[in-house]
Amino acid sequence: MCGIIARAGRGDAVPLVLSGLENLEYRGYDSAGVAVRNGDGIDVYKRSGEVSELSAQIRDGVASGNVGIGHTRWSTHGPPTDANAHPHTDGDGEVAVVHNGIIENHEALRERLADLGCEFTSDTDTEVVPHLFEHYLERSEDAEAAFRRTVRDLEGSYAIAAIVDGEEAVYGARQGSPLVLGVAGSEYFLASDVPAFLEHTDTVVYLEDDDVAVLRPDSVGVTDLDGGDVARDTEHVDWDPEETGKGKYSHYMLKEINVQPTSLANTIEGRIDAEDGEVSLEEFPPGAFEGVSEVQLVACGTSYHAALYGQQLLQSAGINASAYRASEYGTADVPVTERTLVIGVTQSGETADTLGAIRRATDRGARTLAVTNVVGSTAARECDDALFIRAGPEIGVAATKTFTSQAVTLALLARRLAVDVPHGDPRDDFEAVAKSLERLPDALDRMLSASDAREVGRHYLGSDAFFFIGRGRCYPVALEGALKFKEITYEHAEGFASGELKHGPLSLVTPNTPVFAVFGGDQDEKTLKNASEAQTRGADVVAVASQGHPAVDAADAHLTVPDVHPVWAGLLANVQLQLVSYHTANQLDRAIDKPRNLAKSVTVE
Ligand code: M6R
Repeated sequence: MCGIIARAGRGDAVPLVLSGLENLEYRGYDSAGVAVRNGDGIDVYKRSGEVSELSAQIRDGVASGNVGIGHTRWSTHGPPTDANAHPHTDGDGEVAVVHNGIIENHEALRERLADLGCEFTSDTDTEVVPHLFEHYLERSEDAEAAFRRTVRDLEGSYAIAAIVDGEEAVYGARQGSPLVLGVAGSEYFLASDVPAFLEHTDTVVYLEDDDVAVLRPDSVGVTDLDGGDVARDTEHVDWDPEETGKGKYSHYMLKEINVQPTSLANTIEGRIDAEDGEVSLEEFPPGAFEGVSEVQLVACGTSYHAALYGQQLLQSAGINASAYRASEYGTADVPVTERTLVIGVTQSGETADTLGAIRRATDRGARTLAVTNVVGSTAARECDDALFIRAGPEIGVAATKTFTSQAVTLALLARRLAVDVPHGDPRDDFEAVAKSLERLPDALDRMLSASDAREVGRHYLGSDAFFFIGRGRCYPVALEGALKFKEITYEHAEGFASGELKHGPLSLVTPNTPVFAVFGGDQDEKTLKNASEAQTRGADVVAVASQGHPAVDAADAHLTVPDVHPVWAGLLANVQLQLVSYHTANQLDRAIDKPRNLAKSVTVE
């Protein structure tokens, strides 16, 4: 995944493009670049490394112009070198292009353009685009027509922004990759995602595939590939610009862990009536799921762990439900009928594996639903329905608050489905579940301010490996605890179903491999036995459990989870594990918000 930003308006575009890139850096941080139309031509500044390094370089140079484009890259085609950094230009530097996605026919285009005498200087698929644009510029009556001809030749997925020498305009197009237009009076932005320009405007237009946008300093137009006018709705994003900054925190991840009382309160606001124990989802009135007989959840990474949590809740509500890793969903012929509801769980709504699974389900006649954080995302637009988790922007590459909000949203959905679908078995105790959910943000708040996670993390620094075990709803929490830990500490961590430990992984357990055991009321006595099997082999056990839980006395260390309904206990335990990962990574001086080799969402399969 890469991030692109463009700006057309009065005054200098460069600082706006650079700050937009900083806000988009979660999408990739292998290299960064900016191109600006300066009146005499196009200036391009680009280099491998982070946006801050590029900004330092530009401060030393002179770059200004009211129309500019920028890019932050997560490498797919070609290593993260200066040459492969975007923007890419044609041979004469008359066109500069930034691109997110993959041009699938780039080899054929490269051959065609090479035959015409074009010389290429990078390994990227993107570089064909400026050459093609320049080729059509020589043969078209105007730049807009040349851009359209260029876009028509491209196959694959792309969001593109381009500038041309002599034209005070940005040309943008999308196919399968996100591109959103920001309107700030008579200043216009084009970006992969709203946080890029949220500090300037919350008025947006989500572009559709095959739209072509032309931004000028005082006008903007959207047309189709033939030049016909296209009307797109203008929307207002209800994210606060403050939400996209780090605030008083040293890292986005720490902020995003700590704001969970608020983000969770937003997720549930207006959706539960604890008095009569009912869930009301505006998007799904009673009866909305009649006809559904089975649920399949598809997701990746952290979202898959939330989906596993959801699967358990759906199953306990009598619903035939299975969670699949989206990348594996297409490898088996999973049976799907028109009575199957396929739920894509995806924070970004842009993960290629998840979109692939959703498209496969659509092709086979299933009903589809996106559970996502991003309004206007591809998943939200392609699915039959969307349910937003309302967690607010998440910038840290490690998903934290969105896991909690996804799991809770799926719990609410499970309740709605249980009422609607045949064989659904709504829980009798839902009133108690709902009441506990209402109090969950406060419980989370208390837990965050009293957590011992930093000390626990420090105590186990230098261990050979870190294991996480849990059963039932705590199994996905164990998997998520391990994923978070390995992702940001670079230490070896694995999550297991507690009962599986003795079927193989126990051979890895030594006195130098702490085991974090998650207790949330699902046959805890069995998990306790499994933890003691590890203890017998010399490992320390860290119990993640409520005060007074029998595991606390037996364990070597303890992370306290407030007493809440067992349906939610695992979610609080997960937050303690997020903190352990964070503090361990911090003590190891890791790049917490931008872990090596990763990007916030992965738009390639
Ligand atoms: O945007 P998505 O929820 O679809 O992303 C899926 C995974 O790539 C993502 O959850 C990833 O595992 C997390 N960044 C890990 O913290």
